[in-house]
This record gives sequence, structure tokens and C-alpha cells, in this order.
Amino acid sequence: MPKLTGKRILLGITGGIAAYKAAELVRLLCKAGADVQVVMTEAAGRFITPMTLQALSGRPVRQGLFDPAYEAAMSHIELARWADLILIAPATADFLAHLAHGLANDLLSTLCLASEAPIALAPAMNQRMWLNQATVDNADVLVKRGILLWGPAAGEQACGESGPGRMVEPEGLLGSTVEFLSGGVLAGLRMLLTAGPTREPIDPVRFVGNRSSGKMGFALAKAFVLAGARVELVSGPVSLPTPSRVNRIDVETALDMEQAVMERVAECDIFVGCAAVADYRPEIMVEQKIKKSDERLALQLIRNPDIISQVAALPEAPFSVGFAAETEEPETYAEQKRQAKRLDMIAANLVGAASGGFERDENALTVLWDGGRCDLPMAEKEALAERLVGLIAEHYEKKYSAENS
Ligand code: PMT
Repeated sequence: MPKLTGKRILLGITGGIAAYKAAELVRLLCKAGADVQVVMTEAAGRFITPMTLQALSGRPVRQGLFDPAYEAAMSHIELARWADLILIAPATADFLAHLAHGLANDLLSTLCLASEAPIALAPAMNQRMWLNQATVDNADVLVKRGILLWGPAAGEQACGESGPGRMVEPEGLLGSTVEFLSGGVLAGLRMLLTAGPTREPIDPVRFVGNRSSGKMGFALAKAFVLAGARVELVSGPVSLPTPSRVNRIDVETALDMEQAVMERVAECDIFVGCAAVADYRPEIMVEQKIKKSDERLALQLIRNPDIISQVAALPEAPFSVGFAAETEEPETYAEQKRQAKRLDMIAANLVGAASGGFERDENALTVLWDGGRCDLPMAEKEALAERLVGLIAEHYEKKYSAENS
């Protein structure tokens, strides 16, 4: 049976040169069994004719918000309810801005606002427009609201420049659609994730801790859910709400975190250690509050167990992904940690006063694996998490398809 049989896709086309590729996308979606309803903006009509899209989709193309004939047949609200997925390809910088600001001044933007269906955007624009801070901010806002960004790809552009901003090719968008509507790239997989700091008590009121806010780990938990995984999140003390559909286990110390992880790890397919686990803890926790007396107070610290190393050393180890928070030479130290801890992947995170990492809403990572690397440039942690989950899914798939072949 074709992969999209019975799926209803509302394909929005906005006004960019990549609109000509929408014809091929309609053809591929229909061939895969989907019902495709095309909705075009006025500007899209300058790049491709409604007649072409109608012929390929077998349905009249919708364009205007105030068309009595079409509104009588299927109103814009009914259309908004009809879709299993709203896919906008190409999505221009202008359309991203409209959506980020909740504007509804044409049929397509009104539909997006009125629909509860998931929305996926395939951005297409000049590379400077994509990298412009205004577009970066709009894309971050949209990702935060759960809108999917498929692309853009990088390469030669119609304007003669080269860089990020090309629309993902129709075959790629078909693949993402099939993946998403069948439950996501990680559908059915079980994730175990650590996040936040640990607190190592000195006495009943004081502890050794660190600056981790949990934001990066919680953004990852959300992104794994969006990718279709079942997520268990072992979190140190943070003040963040639990993302929906995440099973959260709160812990305080590294030893608590170790216990919570080791009790659950046999059940998981992928383990991600994003927590900033204290490497050392006070050897003894003093029972009563320590009184101020001498000029100096010495704390004797002892090593905590390394949780992720234990996970990766299990005979049936899950696909294991670590983080490395470094204040200098992040890539060098991260790679040393990846090898020493026997991890499949590691995300090197430059931290410190100037570079961030801890506490802030934005972050940048360099992801390393055996024989490869990928820079994920500065972005909101939620957008960054989606990109990291995409990379993890790709490498998980590669590892297990190689093992099973
Ligand atoms: O929480 P935020 O404010 O959003 O900040 C995000 C972050 C900076 C905390 C995060 O991106 C990050 O880098 N997390 C890892 C921090 C860290 O402890 O790095 P590390 O280099 O000390 O540890 C390397 C790896 O070993 C990590 O996967 C860590 O979880 C794991 N580890 C470390 C020590 C230990 N005893 N057990 C472990 O499992």
C-alpha cells in the first residue's frame, strides 16, 4: 500500500522561485497515496499556475479568503480541520514572519492560525535573508511553538549566491512527510535522558553545585517527543515545567541520578547524558549546619561514579550520547571524553562567561562521532535540540542498519 494512503495534506505554496518545485512535490505526495489540497498565496501565482497544480492534485486550488463559491463548498475553517498536516513549501521569509506574528491576512496564514494540525515549513530564500537576525528570531519562535522546520538545505541559489536557504528537494520533503505521519523518525524508540545539575550536600543547608539550568536537556526531551520517542527524563533540581508526554524523575545528587538511570537503562534504546553531574562530592555530609568558627574550612571531596561511562560499558549498551562542557578547546577535550567513555556521539559545548552554554536560552554545539563532526551554530536551545535529535536519529539508524546487515 502507498505510504500516505488516507492522509490529507494541505500544501501551502508561497511566492518564491522554488514554487516551481511544488508541482513535483504534489505529484510525489499524490503518488504516495495522499489527498493533496493546494492553497496558494497571491505571490505564489506569479511563479506557478493554479492550473498545473489542479491538474496534478485533482482538486481545485484555493487562493482567496473571500471567495463565496469555494467558501460555500468547503469554508476555510473546514479546510483547517480537514488537514492531517499543513506543509508549506516553499515558505518565504515573509511567510515565516507572518506566522511568527500571528498575522492572518490571506487564506494560507488564516488557515495556519485556525488549524490544530501540525505545521511543517520548508523555508526557501536567499541565504542572507535566512541568516538575517529577524528571520533567525522568527524561525526560533516558530520552532518553540512546535512548528516543524524541514530545511533549508545549503547550496547554489537561483540568485547566484551560495549558502543555506535552498528549499529541500521534493523527494526529501516526501520522506519527511512519510516519517512524520508514520510517527516521527524515532517512532517507537525509548529514550532515557539526564538533565540539569546535581547537588552534593555539605550539610543540611549547603551544597556543591553548578550552573546548569536544565534548559538544554528539557529542550531535548521535548524534541525527542516530537520525533516520536517515548521519553524518560532524569532531572536534577531545576525550576522548569515538565514537557508534555515526558515521564520525569526528579533526583538531587549524582548517586541518586546514577541509581535512577541504572534502574531504567535496560529498557532504553538511546541514552543521552546532558546533565552536569558533579564529578566530586563531599566525603561526609555533616549532620548539623556547620558553624562559622575558624578562618579556613577544608572540604574533603571524593569522586562520584561516572554515570554515562557505566551506561556505555553495559553488554547491551544503548546508543549513548554525551555532552562535554568545556571552557577551552571544546572539540579536543570532547573527543577525548567520547573515546574514554566509549560513546557513540558527544556534543562539545563551549561554556563560560563569554560563550554561554549554561543558563542561557541559546547555545551552540559541535557534535562529534567516530570519523565525523557537525557544527550546530548558535540558536535557541529548542531549535538546537531539534537539530541534534535529527543527527542522533541519523546515526542511530546507520549503526543499527549496519549491525543488522
Ligand atoms: O542546563 P543548561 O543551563 O541548559 O546548560 C546546558 C549544559 C551546558 C549543562 C549542557 O549543554 C552540557 O554541556 N552538559 C554536560 C555538562 C557536563 O557535565 O559535562 P562533563 O564534560 O563534565 O561530562 C561529560 C559527560 O559525562 C556528560 O554527558 C555528563 O552527563 C557525563 N557525566 C559526567 C560526570 C559523571 N559523574 N557522570 C556522568 O555521566
